[in-house]
Amino acid sequence: MMDAEVGDDVLDGDPTTARLEERVARLFGQEAALFFPSGTQANQTAVWVLSESGTEVLLEENAHLIHYELGALAALAGVQARPVTTTDGILTPSAARRGWRRASRFLPRISMMAAENTHNASGGRLLPLECWDGLVRLADERRVPIHLDGARIWHAAVAADIPLERLTRGATTVMVSFSKGLGCPVGSCLVGGRDVLGRAWEIRKRLGGGMRQTGILAAACLYALDHHVERLEEDHRLARLLAHRLTDNEFVSAREPETNILMLELTGEMGSADAVSQLDAAGVRVVEFGSRTLRAVMHLDVAKDDVEQAADTIARVVDR
Ligand SMILES: Cc1ncc(COP(=O)(O)O)c(C=O)c1O
Repeated sequence: MMDAEVGDDVLDGDPTTARLEERVARLFGQEAALFFPSGTQANQTAVWVLSESGTEVLLEENAHLIHYELGALAALAGVQARPVTTTDGILTPSAARRGWRRASRFLPRISMMAAENTHNASGGRLLPLECWDGLVRLADERRVPIHLDGARIWHAAVAADIPLERLTRGATTVMVSFSKGLGCPVGSCLVGGRDVLGRAWEIRKRLGGGMRQTGILAAACLYALDHHVERLEEDHRLARLLAHRLTDNEFVSAREPETNILMLELTGEMGSADAVSQLDAAGVRVVEFGSRTLRAVMHLDVAKDDVEQAADTIARVVDR
């Protein structure tokens, strides 16, 4: 990062950022990529560009776009969510079809679709390739664009052993994050066609996301692409290890994780808020994801010994 060649990414371009954008576009088989300060800003820019104010975005009911972006769909793009209920966070084409409203001048129109892979709120689940392909076909048939929130798409590619380009084929835009499992301090990209990204550039600027010597940040992302993608399998292995270590615990249950996120269900007396503060005090940081649900995430700063220790601490703390 210290050695990065920099320019002015707002004025006339930053060479290291341009290198990152070209590389990411190639990885996803798309024409272009645009560097953003956050995944939220890139997601919301995609919605702003692809949707139409006064219409709906069809997506799964626990999507990050609905729950964790502070009403931005309505506040920025002027759209509302058309949430589709699922049992496990996986938006199947048939569920999406059922969510489609009949055409009527009295009902809002769906102007775009969005999906999430891996799905955060369901515990890092993979969106199966056949589901994604079916969603792309549906979008095509209904003549609407489809955005993929791929904040953790790297995990999906590694876990399913499917190239990024294949896993996201047919997307109008894809958002990918470097600041999660890949370990960078800052950075996401929006990937898509040149026209769409030309409009995205304007919206990023409007939102205050135009940054100057971004090469310092992009250098970290380039490093992460070289060094931190293949090792994600290790995070997935550690998530499984933590789940297995808690298998016989009567106060907590863990579903077999598919990637780096492990959801823990509290089955004893203790609620999430209590568990989070007591675990924090004992050195294990988890996030509350419901009154009885905790989320634990593996990443490149977590080693096997940490997981063993965390398993013992969790078992001790929730023991009532
Ligand atoms: C699935 C998903 N999409 C988007 C985001 C937003 O990313 P950021 O925190 O960089 O705004 C997150 C963040 O956790 C996420 O999990």
